[in-house]
Amino acid sequence: MKTRLDFMKMKKNNEPIVMLTAYDYPTAKLAERADVDMILVGDSLGMVVLGYDSTIPVTIEDMIHHTKAVKRGAKNTFVVTDMPFMSYHISKSLSLQNAARLMQEAGADAVKVEGANEVTELIEALTNGGIPVVAHLGLTPQSVGVLGGYKVQGKDVESAKRLLADAHACQKAGAIALVLECVPRQLSEELTNQLDIPTIGIGAGVSTDGQVLVFHDIVGYGVDRVPKFVKQYVNVSETIEGAIQQYVSEVKFRSFPEERHTFSMKEEELHGLYG
Ligand code: KIV
Ligand code: NA
Repeated sequence: MKTRLDFMKMKKNNEPIVMLTAYDYPTAKLAERADVDMILVGDSLGMVVLGYDSTIPVTIEDMIHHTKAVKRGAKNTFVVTDMPFMSYHISKSLSLQNAARLMQEAGADAVKVEGANEVTELIEALTNGGIPVVAHLGLTPQSVGVLGGYKVQGKDVESAKRLLADAHACQKAGAIALVLECVPRQLSEELTNQLDIPTIGIGAGVSTDGQVLVFHDIVGYGVDRVPKFVKQYVNVSETIEGAIQQYVSEVKFRSFPEERHTFSMKEEELHGLYG
């Protein structure tokens, strides 16, 4: 399994780091087989697999449940799990306890937290406790209410400078990598050059050390609209819907099951049965 040092080496060698989200056993298995470098059990699961409108309702229990399944499918891949909304803000001790559960109970290799300021202190505390932390700056969906919507961040000098300062603070606190969401490519390139730790972009252009996307977005699975920064490689929804429709109609017409899907008794056993 690749670890923190491999990711540092990849940055140094200018070898892109591929991260993809997964929320269950089969997806994790496929991601590992396809040589994804890092799997993210993102709290985006609240939207793409649980059907919520945002990531706000996601709980620590949800994250544990899904991380366990992912780790069973990808035992040899570095798994990062999101700490969900408000699971790392109430108190230091509760935050440490929640992060520890993600590692000990669920099997995560690192946790991810959104934001800077107080969160920076937590990154340091977690790191001191032996829990690797991935930071997440730019568009931070857990703060969508405060940000006022899902918008590109760091477009003006003031917010760009703040983002640079926050990124350095996260690195200084011990973050092993930084996810940059929805920031202009010029800013993410500058950040990538300035930082020693790998940057992993989503909607941050091509210059980051790595890229991350949501599994359901890249395969077109149950998602109606995808953001500008997503590339959809296939649309499995169409394939799945077609298969379900065919199954429904074959059952209705009794063209399924066929002989080859069916078990039967021997003739003499039948005689015994009916006398
Ligand atoms: O939850 C998630 O999937 C994420 C990525 C989009 C970075 O945080
Ligand atoms: Na997330």
